[in-house]
Amino acid sequence: MAKPNLRKLNPMDFTKMNPTRQAKIEAAPAAALPDADSYKPNQLANALHPEVQYVKVAQIDEISADVKTFWLEADPARGTQSLAWFSAGQYLSVTLEIGNMKMTRPYSLSSSPREALAGRYALTVKRVEGGLASNFILDSWTVGTEVTVSAPLGVFTYEPLRDAKVIIGVAGGSGITPFRSLAKSIADGDEDAQLILLYGSRTMEEAIFQEEFKAMEGPKFKLVNVLSDETAECCCGGEGCCCEKGFITADLIKKYAPAGDYSIFLCGPQAMYDFVDKEIASLGLRKKFIRHELFGEYFNPAKEADYPADVAPQFEITVRIAGHEQTITASSDVSILRSLEAAGIAAPAHCRSGECGWCHSRLVSGDVYTPKSVDGRREADYIYGYIHPCCSFPLSNLVIEVSPAK
Ligand code: FES
Repeated sequence: MAKPNLRKLNPMDFTKMNPTRQAKIEAAPAAALPDADSYKPNQLANALHPEVQYVKVAQIDEISADVKTFWLEADPARGTQSLAWFSAGQYLSVTLEIGNMKMTRPYSLSSSPREALAGRYALTVKRVEGGLASNFILDSWTVGTEVTVSAPLGVFTYEPLRDAKVIIGVAGGSGITPFRSLAKSIADGDEDAQLILLYGSRTMEEAIFQEEFKAMEGPKFKLVNVLSDETAECCCGGEGCCCEKGFITADLIKKYAPAGDYSIFLCGPQAMYDFVDKEIASLGLRKKFIRHELFGEYFNPAKEADYPADVAPQFEITVRIAGHEQTITASSDVSILRSLEAAGIAAPAHCRSGECGWCHSRLVSGDVYTPKSVDGRREADYIYGYIHPCCSFPLSNLVIEVSPAK
């Protein structure tokens, strides 16, 4: 059969379908449709993408002096019968109330998808000096604590149609957590890829999950600790010990990369991206083979070259939410989302880095600054005046319309 020439199709031909559709509607019985939740596709959609999940802390593992893994199970008493499945590399947005502040924070799942099917999620949390949310979790969550989390979110996942079969994982600090999930997923046979993990830490003592990673090593997984400040000669010990001194450079990546195609997945602090991105640029990889986990908040907008001069330190933001209006004071160097949360306003947010669009709010009046590197808005957002408060900073007094968090 000859292929239709799509450029010559008349879009108005679509209207010819209307009489057929109308006839079918008229011929249909007048009986009420069954409840939407009785349809299998809807049941599947709800199981995979619940609006919210109610869970409880079931177990806490002390990983190191400042890192704990929290195992979460469904809480049927609050309406969650089972946990949503996920892909290795995804995160949960955790709802927190700290004092009068209501907020969410994204945490990568460090457990495997198969463990979710068995009824458990793991979140691994590291203490951050001066941090708010992570330190609150470490200090206040105990076995039995009730927690509200989102469905699994994020696109830092292995996609065989896009990614190369060999992944060079570049991890720093708590950015190790999605790679633990991916390594387990490969070991479980749920992902058909090979992972070579370059795990940057200052010292061997800081590098977590060593025993588990060593146990998973084989043809499809290799761990290389890259230690910037370690002084001991052979610092990981044991058989198959493999560590490098220094930083994750282009030469180091080349040393462990295969001869053919490979993807690079990065997850770590901003300082690691600033360094490693420049190194990766010299490798000449196709853009699709470089993947970043984006979550991580943006701070200090004044360091950007295009940040305007003479911005006042404080402004007023009038917030319209759920039929109410409230005016708050906001610092110009703090994201609008953080200012809303500090004022006790439960604004929606998941990724907190401009990627997911969940915080999407209408700027009724005023000016904001959004750094280019985290500006994930679409064309329609610019046209109709929407901003992402998680990575926008006030440049004047503002009026914004915010949807209430669910
Ligand atoms: S919270 Fe994801 S874009 Fe703002």
